[in-house]
Amino acid sequence: MSVDQFRTVAVLGAGTMGNGIAHVFARAGYTVILRDVEQRFLDRGMETIGKNLDREIKKGKIAEAERPNVLGRVRAVTIMEAIAEADFVVEAVPEKMEIKRAVLMDADAILRPEVIIASNTSSISMTALAALTKRADRFVGMHFMNPVPVMVLVEVIRALQTSDATFGTTMELAKKLGKTPVAVNDAPGFVSNRVLMPLINEAAYCVMEGVATAEAVDAVMKLGMNHPMGPLELADFIGLDVCVDILHVLQEGLGDPKYRACPLLKKYVAAGWLGRKSGRGFYSYAT
Ligand SMILES: NC(=O)c1ccc[n+]([C@@H]2O[C@H](COP(=O)([O-])OP(=O)(O)OC[C@H]3O[C@@H](n4cnc5c(N)ncnc54)[C@H](O)[C@@H]3O)[C@@H](O)[C@H]2O)c1
Repeated sequence: MSVDQFRTVAVLGAGTMGNGIAHVFARAGYTVILRDVEQRFLDRGMETIGKNLDREIKKGKIAEAERPNVLGRVRAVTIMEAIAEADFVVEAVPEKMEIKRAVLMDADAILRPEVIIASNTSSISMTALAALTKRADRFVGMHFMNPVPVMVLVEVIRALQTSDATFGTTMELAKKLGKTPVAVNDAPGFVSNRVLMPLINEAAYCVMEGVATAEAVDAVMKLGMNHPMGPLELADFIGLDVCVDILHVLQEGLGDPKYRACPLLKKYVAAGWLGRKSGRGFYSYAT
């Protein structure tokens, strides 16, 4: 089946990334089957899609008349069997191997054999995930960035087993969403986190060693390097716990101590200072 024939896409998980991925597929004209385990998670995801569409209408990115059509193309379901008619699937369930394993094995058993499964994992090996399915050559990474409706990049990650056809189809599909796909081979952290996390970590060391305040480190990177957000602001946005977890994946996977998480990051996580989501990280956020 060629990418031009795709009509229906299933998105597994309606959280931060899943609802954003459903949003961009629906906006591009696809019917989306959005699956989560409980109705309340689907309701929350649909509410977020609605709010993000309102923001796009305000900015003039889409016409107001399009709003009901986009929302109408998303079918929220709790039953896994409902994904059977999908022509392409994106998995965006929590970053836990046990959950990914169960979901991917279930999806593999339900989907037509030719259907490609893409994972949005940030740090788990695509090659290991592909090996959980009976369609390893039709498995690929599609690493969207947060917030999905806004960010242009999709890292398209080739597992060891990914076929040329699967890879080419996925690159094409990302373009149909208005995104810019970038080809990357499977390796710990891919390119995005392999480069970003050491930057964040080094910024945290600067604060820990008293080289500069968090504000000063971020100012240097914004004003001097033209980064739109400072590394510590970005770390708070991503979640300091997520940063520490990804640094562990880099250290384990690449076997190099240069990726060890800065003790200050770990201390903040121990204190429950996880960044924006907990109200405090390198900065304080009014709740
Ligand atoms: N948050 C980010 O900035 C970001 C960026 C890029 C990639 N990712 C990756 O995207 C994936 C999802 O992350 P997230 O931040 O959206 O997580 P999240 O916790 O916000 O959402 C995950 C959703 O999956 C649902 N879920 C759990 N088990 C399920 C199942 N069996 N079937 C269907 N849904 C199920 C949960 O109820 C939840 O709604 C992870 O692999 C993560 O590494 C996250």
